[in-house]
Amino acid sequence: MGNSWFLGILIPIFLCLLFSGGSVNGLGVNWGTMASHKLPPQTVVQMLLDNGIKKVKLFDADSTTMSALAGTDIEVMVAIPNDQLLAMNSYDRAKNWVRRNVTRYNFNGGVNIKYVAVGNEPFLTTYNGSFINITFPALQNIQNALNEAGVGDSIKATLPSNADVYNSPANNPVPSAGRFRPDISGLMTQIIEFLARNRAPFTINIYPFLSLYGNDNFPFDYAFFNGGNPVVDNGIQYTNVFDANFDTLVSALRAIGYGDLTIIVGEVGWPTDGDKYANIANAQRFYSGLMPRLAANSGTPLRPGYLEVYLFGLLDEDIKSIAPGSFERHWGIYRYDGQPKFPLDVSGQNQNRYLIPAQNVEYLPQRWCVFNPNANDLSRLADNINYACTFSDCTALGYGSSCNNLDGNGNVSYAFNMYYQVQNQNVLACDFEGLATLTTQNPSQGACNFIIQIVASSSSFVGPSLMGMPLFAVLTLVLL
Ligand SMILES: *[C@@H]1O[C@H](CO)[C@@H](O)[C@H](O)[C@H]1NC(C)=O
Ligand SMILES: *[C@@H]1O[C@H](CO)[C@@H](O)[C@H](O)[C@H]1NC(C)=O
Ligand SMILES: *[C@@H]1O[C@H](CO)[C@@H](O)[C@H](O)[C@H]1NC(C)=O
Ligand SMILES: *[C@@H]1O[C@H](CO)[C@@H](O)[C@H](O)[C@H]1NC(C)=O
Repeated sequence: MGNSWFLGILIPIFLCLLFSGGSVNGLGVNWGTMASHKLPPQTVVQMLLDNGIKKVKLFDADSTTMSALAGTDIEVMVAIPNDQLLAMNSYDRAKNWVRRNVTRYNFNGGVNIKYVAVGNEPFLTTYNGSFINITFPALQNIQNALNEAGVGDSIKATLPSNADVYNSPANNPVPSAGRFRPDISGLMTQIIEFLARNRAPFTINIYPFLSLYGNDNFPFDYAFFNGGNPVVDNGIQYTNVFDANFDTLVSALRAIGYGDLTIIVGEVGWPTDGDKYANIANAQRFYSGLMPRLAANSGTPLRPGYLEVYLFGLLDEDIKSIAPGSFERHWGIYRYDGQPKFPLDVSGQNQNRYLIPAQNVEYLPQRWCVFNPNANDLSRLADNINYACTFSDCTALGYGSSCNNLDGNGNVSYAFNMYYQVQNQNVLACDFEGLATLTTQNPSQGACNFIIQIVASSSSFVGPSLMGMPLFAVLTLVLL
């Protein structure tokens, strides 16, 4: 009896030890925000804390996001989007960016910024060289501004690149033959020299899924970590495309004399919808191979050991561009609403457990918009579906996707509902010239989920996370 207070303290401590701080060393996640309905930043930060995820990579330096991260020890990579690279070619603008978006948060109880990502895959071949002349000057200006501000020892500028910046020749497609892409090899050499001089890492995004996507000759199992006929290169057996791709980069770096440069994997992951290869089973297989390897610090054949890796991504993003493919909106290890999609053990022990979901998520009412079976004029049906899908996310309807098996009416209902939910269930958004009607019966079928949207987070500046901060800190954030 007299000891119950003691147990009352001990049990919560024990539970905390059991369930938090449990992620693989070096594990981070990408937190993208291209969503029509965003979870409140404080909710997302709490998800990271609850799951013991200690690193996060952002695609900007949005102040509401930064405020939510303030006071935590989560390590942060902030970013300069490609459309701001040109501005960063002015050293004054770069200094201003660093002052407003980095050093502003550099106080006790502020944000633990470790990296500034300068651009996002700016040398992607599909950009046709648009950023080729402006990326390196921006990178130099940002690192120099960090150095001048006195934070350059602990905060490094880096350049997240797509794996298409290097390759092996088609007639010798082995990792050891890796070289930077001929059209940018001179530029890449200058960039790598600069990074090395500043002891900054190179950041690479590697997507085994994309090796498979659109290439039916790609050996399926080689995209994962547990199978496939090995590729042999100088006596090294490569059993998966992730290792082979990473070591192609290591070889490209070695070829220019920087084989020891630190490499961060800025993005790696597997989408769960929008393509025949993008599904829960494949994503689960991919992550259940990746996580134990990270936990074991196995690294790759040319770089054994610790690897800093950011999963892509944290949450589904329903307004991302689908130019690369419909799967783009389905990369999350969580759904749009912060619910985990499949078991994923971030401790790397492959226990059959789910991530801890977002807490206290607010949903709109249990209402759906569906095709009205009594509608008599169907002449405008195609136009209305087109309208609904232009302004909402219908990617789950496509070939090989989760809602591809719906019948004609189901298709129409899915499109109408997505639009209605994006419009926050505004009744006016469920008319479609008399073709639509409301229902409180969930029309979901099998794997095809007719969603209810969440209450969109307002972008007001002061959030609960600021309440725990000392007043001077809040003032610093507001005034600077
Ligand atoms: C700081 O970052 C935000 C968000 O990415 C951006 O909109 C803003 O322009 C940046 N500030 C400066 C002074 O460049
Ligand atoms: C790149 O060029 C192609 C073909 O000329 C064009 O279709 C595409 O829109 C261009 N992309 C960009 C980002 O400029
Ligand atoms: C980049 O600079 C080169 C050399 O000055 C020039 O030929 C090329 O047109 C420039 N590219 C762009 C996209 O501005
Ligand atoms: C449903 O819509 C998808 C995507 O628009 C289309 O591919 C499919 O053929 C449609 N199915 C039916 C039964 O209309």
